[in-house]
Amino acid sequence: MSRNVAADRAAWARLRERASAPYRGAGRFAWHFARGKIGHDPVFRHLFAAGLIPQGARVLDIGCGQGLLASLLRAGAAMRAAGEWPPAWPPAPAPARITGIELMPRDVERARGALGEDGRTSFVCGDMRTEPFPPSDTVVLLDVLHYVTHAEQDAVLRRVRDALVPGGRLLLRVGDAGRRRGFAISQWVDRLVCRARGHAAPPVHGRPLAEWIAQLRRLGLQVEARPMSQGTPFANVLLVAQRP
Ligand SMILES: C[S@@+](CC[C@H](N)C(=O)[O-])C[C@H]1O[C@@H](n2cnc3c(N)ncnc32)[C@H](O)[C@@H]1O
Repeated sequence: MSRNVAADRAAWARLRERASAPYRGAGRFAWHFARGKIGHDPVFRHLFAAGLIPQGARVLDIGCGQGLLASLLRAGAAMRAAGEWPPAWPPAPAPARITGIELMPRDVERARGALGEDGRTSFVCGDMRTEPFPPSDTVVLLDVLHYVTHAEQDAVLRRVRDALVPGGRLLLRVGDAGRRRGFAISQWVDRLVCRARGHAAPPVHGRPLAEWIAQLRRLGLQVEARPMSQGTPFANVLLVAQRP
């Protein structure tokens, strides 16, 4: 392993520990879940490494769960302030605001318990199908849309497009239902995680990747697809969709 790769891994491990630490007080599950998810899910690291969240962004995280993205952003800003941010990475994004919307009260409690709320960070317990979306520079939807029907997905995406400022970005991760094996494995794991978090596993409404892209383009967004299941058996794709 080259020295750069080792340094990179060590820096990410430090960020993971900092971002997981606030969940210690929220119970063993919340802390272990945070460490496992941040450590193994490639999407969080990609958001930072590719600089997908701009400085000063107003971020809306829909289906935020226990608020891992908010915790990572806060931990990144703290590492940067302490001079521990790797110089080779894009500067840690310091958002102007992060709002999480989450359906499950228990997850919202964990997020609020771990991170608190202030003028910059807030968590709303609500349903993305009805909750208003504030004007945003970056909207994040990671592994959430498949829980609602296709018509509801389209309605949420239309409202996301309207909430984005010109030049703003939607970061949407979906499973590609066209890759049957990977998609089936992710649904199976999803059901296990839902049960572990104390929720019933809801039915899922997947789409092949080409349909997701076509729907975003119909909304006038410019779309780029990036594979996002490295190191996992899933069929996940990150769609970076920009409002012109
Ligand atoms: C697979 S988890 C992903 C959590 C988070 N985005 C992440 O990547 O760590 C999906 C989340 O979406 C939430 N969710 C599902 N349906 C929702 C809805 N209609 N409105 C808001 N949140 C919803 C679930 O409760 C769950 O926390």
